Amino acid sequence: MPNKAREKFKTMHNVFDNFTNRLIFKMISEGHFEGLEATVSVGKEANIFSAVGQKGRIILKIYRLEACDFNRMYDYIKEDKRYANLKGKKRKIIFTWVQREYRNLLIARQAGVSCPTPIKFLGNIILLEFIGLDGEVAPKLKDKKPEDPKKFFDKVVENMKKLYKSGLVHADLSPFNILNFNEVPILIDFSQTTTTDSTSADEFIRRDVRNVVNHFKKLGLKLSEDKVLAKILK
Ligand SMILES: Nc1ncnc2c1ncn2[C@@H]1O[C@H](COP(=O)(O)OP(=O)(O)OP(=O)(O)O)[C@@H](O)[C@H]1O
Ligand SMILES: [Mg+2]
Repeated sequence: MPNKAREKFKTMHNVFDNFTNRLIFKMISEGHFEGLEATVSVGKEANIFSAVGQKGRIILKIYRLEACDFNRMYDYIKEDKRYANLKGKKRKIIFTWVQREYRNLLIARQAGVSCPTPIKFLGNIILLEFIGLDGEVAPKLKDKKPEDPKKFFDKVVENMKKLYKSGLVHADLSPFNILNFNEVPILIDFSQTTTTDSTSADEFIRRDVRNVVNHFKKLGLKLSEDKVLAKILK
């Protein structure tokens, strides 16, 4: 490996424990991508990287095992009836969290929601479709004002409705988790997404609506939270 590549490799892999690095190598050897390309985002619990594979660029979302707040994860996941018997099992909670994010995205895609296609999950890593152009990720809605806020807002609501109809509520929707990809909203970060039959689903859908409505009010739209909510639940 040339020096520069080795340096880049070292800095990127330094943030991970041996377990995680082994999974990355496993995915490389299975041909999913050739190596990490660039750091896209460093979050509280997860790092996002781009990588290039045979079919083009992809995204890796890697949960840092030591940084994961599994108590918070457990509080969310215990209400999701699809998952049980996780209490006290730290690693299992994290791995289930990742699997759930993958599964949520799959359901959302199948329901026609505009979100990244999930490609694979393994341990604390999830591979996703890259949303962007020429290696540049699409900006977040909070950073890029839509040219036609009303049109953009309507599309967001349409997506929220489709998601709800498929039995899911995003539960962390805000201008941080919506990308503005050439004026098309793409919903991301389905880690907190849960089923509409979970105890807190009502509270979550209201919060999602409020976050989105407040942002578009700031962009000049006249909106009623109740009306938007009614439209989604209809
Ligand atoms: N599929 C994708 N394509 C392009 N950019 C992405 C994609 N997924 C994530 N990103 C970028 O990475 C950032 C962080 O991703 P995400 O919101 O999923 O994680 P997070 O907020 O750090 O994690 P979490 O809330 O699950 O702890 C996003 O705001 C976005 O800029
Ligand atoms: Mg996010």
